Amino acid sequence: MLKKLFIKTYGCQMNVYDSARMADVLAPLGYAPGDSPEDADMVVLNTCHIREKAAEKVYSELGRLRRLKDGRRAVGADLTIAVAGCVAQAEGEEIFARAPFVDMVFGPQAYHRLPEMVARLARGAERVLDTAFPVDDKFDSLPEASAGQGVTAFLTIQEGCDKFCTFCVVPYTRGAEFSRPARDVIADARRLVERGTREITLLGQNVNAYLGPGPAGQAWGLGRLIRALAEIDGLDRVRYTTSHPHDMDDDLIAAHGEVPALMPFLHLPVQSGSDRVLEAMNRRHRADDYRRIVDRLRTARPDLALSSDFIVGFPGESDADFDATMQLVDEIGFAQAFSFKYSPRPGTPAAALVEQVSEPVKQARLAALQALLRDQQDRFNAAQVGRRMPVLLEKPGRRPGQLAGRSPYLQAVHVETTGHAAAQIGRIVDLDITEALPNSLTGIWPAAALRAGGAPVGPLDSAAAGASI
Ligand code: 5AD
Ligand code: SF4
Repeated sequence: MLKKLFIKTYGCQMNVYDSARMADVLAPLGYAPGDSPEDADMVVLNTCHIREKAAEKVYSELGRLRRLKDGRRAVGADLTIAVAGCVAQAEGEEIFARAPFVDMVFGPQAYHRLPEMVARLARGAERVLDTAFPVDDKFDSLPEASAGQGVTAFLTIQEGCDKFCTFCVVPYTRGAEFSRPARDVIADARRLVERGTREITLLGQNVNAYLGPGPAGQAWGLGRLIRALAEIDGLDRVRYTTSHPHDMDDDLIAAHGEVPALMPFLHLPVQSGSDRVLEAMNRRHRADDYRRIVDRLRTARPDLALSSDFIVGFPGESDADFDATMQLVDEIGFAQAFSFKYSPRPGTPAAALVEQVSEPVKQARLAALQALLRDQQDRFNAAQVGRRMPVLLEKPGRRPGQLAGRSPYLQAVHVETTGHAAAQIGRIVDLDITEALPNSLTGIWPAAALRAGGAPVGPLDSAAAGASI
C-alpha cells in the first residue's frame, strides 16, 4: 500500500536539496509525497542548527507532531517521526531525551542509509539513531537526482566546511570538506538538462572551495568546473552558492568575465566590516581583502550584483566595529543581503567568549544595518525599471495568466500573458521592466511596450513572443 511522506525543510538550499534526495531514497519503499503532516505516515523534519531560533522551532514543531501521533495511536494507527539535518547531527541522543516519541534521528551524512533505518523500525527497533560521519561516499549510494527539479535545479557539488569560523556549527554538523568528482557533476547536470532544466545552481557549504578530481585525475577548481558545465548544450544559466572570500581564486574570478552562462549575481558573505571582529571570527580575510576581491570581480564583470551575510553583535563588537560594517556596506552596495544577530551556538569557540553584546544593542545594530541594506536593495531594483533584460520563465505566477521568472541578478520577475502561457515556461525571454516592488519586478513584453509607445523592439525570442501577444 502506498504510504505518504511529508518532509518539512528548514534552513539552507542544501537542506532543500537533501529533502528531495530523502524523498528519492524512500520512494522505492512505497512512500509518495504527501501534502501535510495530517495525511502523512512519516514526517521528517529536515532541520537547521545555524542559529538558536532555528533549532528551537524544531522542538515546537515536534510538540505539534506528538499530538498528531497520540491521536493516531488512540485509533490504532501510527505516525513515524524523524528528525534529520543539522540539529539531528549536533544533538543526536539529546533529541530522544527531549522528545521520546521521535522514532529516527539521523544526520546529513546518513540519508542513503534511510531504507535500512526504516527496515530496522519495521523489524521492531524502538528507535534509530545514525549520526556517524561515514568514510564511504554518500553520493555514490544516493539514487540519481530526481526528475522533479524543473526549469531551475540545485546540484550539490561540495559538502562540509574546514573553515571553522568561531560562531558557526557547520564544520561540526556537516563535517570536513568533500568535493564530488567533476565527471559525476557533469553527468548529473546533463541528466537535468535532458529533463528540461535551463539553470543550475551549484551547491556547497563552501562551494568555491570545490576541488574535485577532474576527468584525467588532475584536480579541478570551481572555475574549471563551471567552464565545463557551460559547454553543455541547453544549459543556459549557472550559479553557485555559498562562497567564502578566501576561496575566490583567479580562475573563478576570470570565469565571471569569460563565461556568459555564469550569471552576474554572487552571494559572497563578509559577516563584518571590522578587521578586529573578522579576526575574532577566524574569517581568514580582512575587510580590505573583501574590497579587493569585489573590485576584481567587478572588473571582470562590471554588472555583477552582490549579496552577503552579516552578523551583528558578535562578542566584543564595539560601536566602532559596527560602524566599520556600515561603512563597508555603504562602499560596496549590495543588491540583496541577509543579516542576523549573533546567536551563541553550544560548542563553538565564540559561545565561550565573555564579552557578549547585550540584546538591545544587537537589536539596534540589526535595525540600522537592515535599513541600509533594504535601501540598497530598493535602489538596485528601481534601477532596473526601464531596462530590457533576459528573464528565465520558471513557473506560473499567483494569478491566472501570470508567469514568474528570474532576472540574471536573481530578482523575481512577474509578467502577464495571454494565450498558451504554460508553453513559455523554460524559455528565456527579453522583457521590459516597468515596475520595482520590494521583492520582485514587473515586466512586460517589448511588443506591448511598443504599442503603448515604449521602447523599440529588440531581438526577441520569437516563439515566446508569438505565443504571448
Ligand atoms: N549567529 C548568527 N548568525 C550566524 N550565522 C552562522 N552562525 C551564526 C550564529 N552563531 C549566519 C552567518 C552565515 C549564515 C548562513 O548564518 O552569517 O553566513
Ligand atoms: Fe560556517 Fe564559516 Fe564554514 Fe561558512 S565558512 S560554513 S560561516 S565555518
